[in-house]
Amino acid sequence: MNTQQFEARKREHIQHSLDSAHQAQGLSGLDQIHLVHDALPELNLDEVRIHTKCLGKDLATPFYVAGMTAGHPDAVQINRLLALACQERGWAMGVGSQRRDLEMESGSFLDHWKKLREEVPHLVLFGNIGLAQLIHAPIHKIRRLVEELGAQALAVHVNALQEAIQPEGTPSFRGGLEALRFYCRELGFPVVLKETGCGFSRATLERLADIGLSAVDVSGLGGTHWGRIEGARAEKNSVHAQASATFANWGESTVSSVQSAAAVLPAGVEIWASGGVRSGLDSGKLIALGAHRVGYAKPALEAALAGPEQLRIWMETQEAELKIALFCTGSAHCQALRKKEGVWRVNVI
Ligand SMILES: Cc1cc2nc3c(=O)[nH]c(=O)nc-3n(C[C@H](O)[C@H](O)[C@H](O)COP(=O)(O)O)c2cc1C
Repeated sequence: MNTQQFEARKREHIQHSLDSAHQAQGLSGLDQIHLVHDALPELNLDEVRIHTKCLGKDLATPFYVAGMTAGHPDAVQINRLLALACQERGWAMGVGSQRRDLEMESGSFLDHWKKLREEVPHLVLFGNIGLAQLIHAPIHKIRRLVEELGAQALAVHVNALQEAIQPEGTPSFRGGLEALRFYCRELGFPVVLKETGCGFSRATLERLADIGLSAVDVSGLGGTHWGRIEGARAEKNSVHAQASATFANWGESTVSSVQSAAAVLPAGVEIWASGGVRSGLDSGKLIALGAHRVGYAKPALEAALAGPEQLRIWMETQEAELKIALFCTGSAHCQALRKKEGVWRVNVI
């Protein structure tokens, strides 16, 4: 694929991701989770703290902006806005796929990030590469992507459904588990495995439990759905377009993925929750279910596109809503909410 085709695809991805038809709305499971109100919290709202440790680093919040397209020139300004805001507010941030930097001789996006890094030296940042690329890439090239970004970790994304439905996709995951095990051992940076909106089943997580991952970002069903987006990009009535409609609701919900992760992953593996997280209350629910960190992709993109002031208000809202959820459940901090017995129940309507 040449640079022009690559950029066109990334531009289409951004446009389609903003279309509500490509959101698996109502399927995250979050509407069914109810946090139990404590009418008598023994604390004041201004005592509530949301700071966390992220892979050993102190952060002011448990939030991150999940990795999004870094693949074309329009994204430079979006990335800059997000990076500045994330550093200022103590959010972590993932970059979008670095496949282009891996595969293309010219037009490297790393240069853009290196320049931006000078403006945000304290930002906790994650690199990003697809498992389909990781399986075949030489490790020194992958390590270089992480080092030159000044990243704290490498996020490896899995996106089987997207690759299968994308007309020019790479649905090649044979050898994936072994490659992950190798990278966890040899890379020299923490490895985070992330889905992209289809989540993880308990059975898959069991296979991942002891391979040395530092975190799993479940990115479950309930938000941006790449099966739907690739269907919109495919030719009308083509096999890919029809398969996209058939698989429009495919995936493991964000709620069930987090519950499975909490049941199966050892204590040393952080649970990150993304996929259809749309409020600070959603974040509180996921923390109560066992998540250490909560991520937003599409809402962060939308807020950044609306400008720096809207982005600030949106980020502040997520933080304020999480603090209210903590206060009204009588939890002084995120860890207290995670450990609280009986703090959530499944809604019976
Ligand atoms: C425009 C856009 C581009 C994305 N690009 C990437 C990517 O390059 N790598 C990746 O791991 N995930 C990518 N994602 C997936 C997100 O990180 C996230 O897993 C998914 O969108 C679910 O979160 P959401 O429902 O909050 O959007 C992208 C998401 C969006 C909206």
